[in-house]
Amino acid sequence: MTEKIIILDFGSQVTQLIGRRLRELNVYCEIFPYNKCPEMDGSVKGVILSGSPCSVKDANAPSVNLDGIKGRIPVLGICYGAQYLAFKYGGNVDGSLAREYGRAMLDVVADAPLFQGVKSRSQVWMSHGDTISALPQGAEVIASTDDVRFAAFRFPGEDTYGVQFHPEVYHSLEGLKILSNFAIGICGCTAGWTPASFVETTVAGLKEQIGDDKVILGLSGGVDSTVAGVLLNKAIGSNLTCIFVNNGLLRKNEYESVLESYIGMGLNVIGADASEGFLSALAGVVDPEEKRRIIGRLFVETFEKYARGIENARWLAQGTIYPDVIESAGIPGIASKIKSHHNVGGLPEKMNLKIVEPLRMLFKDEVRRVGRTLGIKEELVGRHPFPGPSLAIRIIGDITREKLDILREADDIFIRGLRSYDCSEMDFPSAADPSKKAEILYDAVWQAGVILLPIKSVGVMGDERTYKNAVALRAVVSTDAMTADWFHFPYDFLSKVSDDIINKVPGVNLVVYDISSKPPSTIEWE
Ligand code: XMP
Repeated sequence: MTEKIIILDFGSQVTQLIGRRLRELNVYCEIFPYNKCPEMDGSVKGVILSGSPCSVKDANAPSVNLDGIKGRIPVLGICYGAQYLAFKYGGNVDGSLAREYGRAMLDVVADAPLFQGVKSRSQVWMSHGDTISALPQGAEVIASTDDVRFAAFRFPGEDTYGVQFHPEVYHSLEGLKILSNFAIGICGCTAGWTPASFVETTVAGLKEQIGDDKVILGLSGGVDSTVAGVLLNKAIGSNLTCIFVNNGLLRKNEYESVLESYIGMGLNVIGADASEGFLSALAGVVDPEEKRRIIGRLFVETFEKYARGIENARWLAQGTIYPDVIESAGIPGIASKIKSHHNVGGLPEKMNLKIVEPLRMLFKDEVRRVGRTLGIKEELVGRHPFPGPSLAIRIIGDITREKLDILREADDIFIRGLRSYDCSEMDFPSAADPSKKAEILYDAVWQAGVILLPIKSVGVMGDERTYKNAVALRAVVSTDAMTADWFHFPYDFLSKVSDDIINKVPGVNLVVYDISSKPPSTIEWE
């Protein structure tokens, strides 16, 4: 039985981050909506109550029955979680007292294992409207900030703690230490959840689940499906057949080079080159949603055609990851997070196969760590996300082979430029793992690409007038693609990429850089 911490989600924007941070500490955890609290069997070593957009004094404030938990298993309330503990057990919170948003300096005022090794005046991140104004009888304050007296407290004689700040966010400089003190020090977790242990138990589990059955997996060249493929290959070898569809809209040389990598990794992979069909079905189509529909339909048809050739296949494997699985806490009155329409397959229902999802308990950064442990090369593990409809939604207007060629060349220059620009002297965090610094610009950026615009501009090359296409560069930082900010490139980089594109790509004489954020814009232009 894997030991774990249970995180009860009261609807905070950063609940997932608590999970990711614990996993970084090699502590396994699972997130549940506050109203679906699981059984506290022997595997549960501790419980964390998340933040929330609600006030504990709201008439229908989210609540959880802690009978049989508090006092028996260690509990850590964070922000709303702390206010809930204070209010529920006889203290009080007040909306009219100090509100705090942003940085604060924490003064530890009592000797408590939660703050073992935490420096005095350590920076923490606050984000609360309500403030705890009175602690429950007997509870003891263990840390304060300049504005908030009860920044952290504990209940006597038990391992129950509340912290008003957010230890899970990166701005809480010693937040990870505090979470480690809780999970490892107080709850006694052994921190054995490592990529290597995940690989070992998952491979054994897959062998048992699948037995001698045959499995089909669609590979996209992206991190998730690649890691799923390598894991399954380790478990069942040639009983796994992978299908990699060429929709004719991939980046320069992508189909050939990714297929070659897959073959090099020993995967039993079928390259399904359906480019002709995709391109002819898309001829003359301008509307982005229509492009998506056509590409989605043809993808399913192509996949099914090749899958039909695999006799006795019983399972369809998918690269689903934990953020797709976590049920968000439905807080009354708060609109649930807008789920993107992207990456919705439509394959399983049609094919009458059982589903196997080896990565369904992993966060994206863990998928990458597992991929590295499996020896998958960095070029595949560290890849930017790429949309299913591929370059079709980066050509504004109708799609032709000529436009695709122009876009591929420009995109290739941009991406190669990102890969070769050493930024180790600059202070860019890695997009895949913000606790590390990026060494090259490619890793500092979350996603990047070039868009071919339906605009021609007059230029001059040598002594000649030109009348050619304009392209836009897009590069963003994000954590989940729901929001994104444009990336602040060094000017010399932009200037070099622009020169290279204009000089080397026949058909382009103008380059612009998109500096809009999401929202109100989106990452892709279409
Ligand atoms: P937007 O443009 O909505 O993109 O800000 C958010 C993320 O989703 C990707 N994207 C797609 N992925 N099918 C996909 O599989 C799509 O139709 C699609 N549209 C956008 C986009 O590249 C970004 O990572």
